[in-house]
Amino acid sequence: MITTSAPAKIILCGEHAVVYNRPAIALPLGDVRAYAVATPTAPGTGLHFVAPDLDETWSFSTHPQHPLSELAATVLEHLGAVAPDLSITLRSDIPIAGGMGSGAAIGAALVRAVAQALGHNLPPAEVSALVYASEGRYHGTPSGIDNTVIAYEQAIWFQRRPDAPPLIAPIHVATPLTLVIGDTGVRSATHRPVGALRKRWQADPPTYEARFDAVADVATQARAALAAGDLAALGQIMNTNQTLLEELGISSPELDRLVQAARQAGALGAKLSGAGWGGVMIALAHSNQCQQVADALHAAGASRVRVALVPACAGEI
Ligand code: PMV
Repeated sequence: MITTSAPAKIILCGEHAVVYNRPAIALPLGDVRAYAVATPTAPGTGLHFVAPDLDETWSFSTHPQHPLSELAATVLEHLGAVAPDLSITLRSDIPIAGGMGSGAAIGAALVRAVAQALGHNLPPAEVSALVYASEGRYHGTPSGIDNTVIAYEQAIWFQRRPDAPPLIAPIHVATPLTLVIGDTGVRSATHRPVGALRKRWQADPPTYEARFDAVADVATQARAALAAGDLAALGQIMNTNQTLLEELGISSPELDRLVQAARQAGALGAKLSGAGWGGVMIALAHSNQCQQVADALHAAGASRVRVALVPACAGEI
């Protein structure tokens, strides 16, 4: 039996603008994970999937169009292998369509399980590329930040480039961060706000390009604040990013309510994280204030609140 896993992620700053080639910062959440358990089955039985969270079971051969069958097919093609006799159970602690990268994490766990069952331990870059190909099917124009941070499991600076592979750099986090993550309970598929923003950008490129540039400045300032361990500055930067996301039309009444509640409860800063229109928001807090912030988020209607500790890291991949 083989068990593989991949973490959830949050985007600290730069979501959406990252689709338009601006830099963004993403952090893995090692304690919240998706898992794949691969159990060998009798010869000739083929490849089967079980996803108890989704109440789904299916076979690779009879359901080749299932997105996770397609991902498995991509892995097999990459390895030049045929489908093994295997039952793969997929389980995840990451809310689906909640801005925490559940699709990419399940994909990364699956890629690793199929590869390991065939005797291959794929490096993060290969896992990331394979998952990226399948992310494209869900929302058309993925930036690649989710699959990258999840496959590398490392705090990253990420920027797409028009004629080159994305720039991926490790981030120096000088002081551990305590993040309080509030879930609106509203599920919103990534492609919806991404598609709506694309229409607005097409209708008025100068306005939206200027807003994306402002988000890029925010990401640059956040990187410096992380490296300096300046949490007060980072909180302010997160607030500025939230204002820009509101101007981009990505927030929602539920997100706004949670962001306000966190700030009033003493958070250093708060913003939505991920695709928006639902999903989660994040608040940066001093560790002795995080309970107060968590209570305020519950009181403001959060369906779930988690406290995540992001460790300091030297910034080497
Ligand atoms: O799918 P989510 O909620 O983890 O967010 C994806 C981040 C976006 O910038 C909105 C889209 C992208 O492809 O980068």
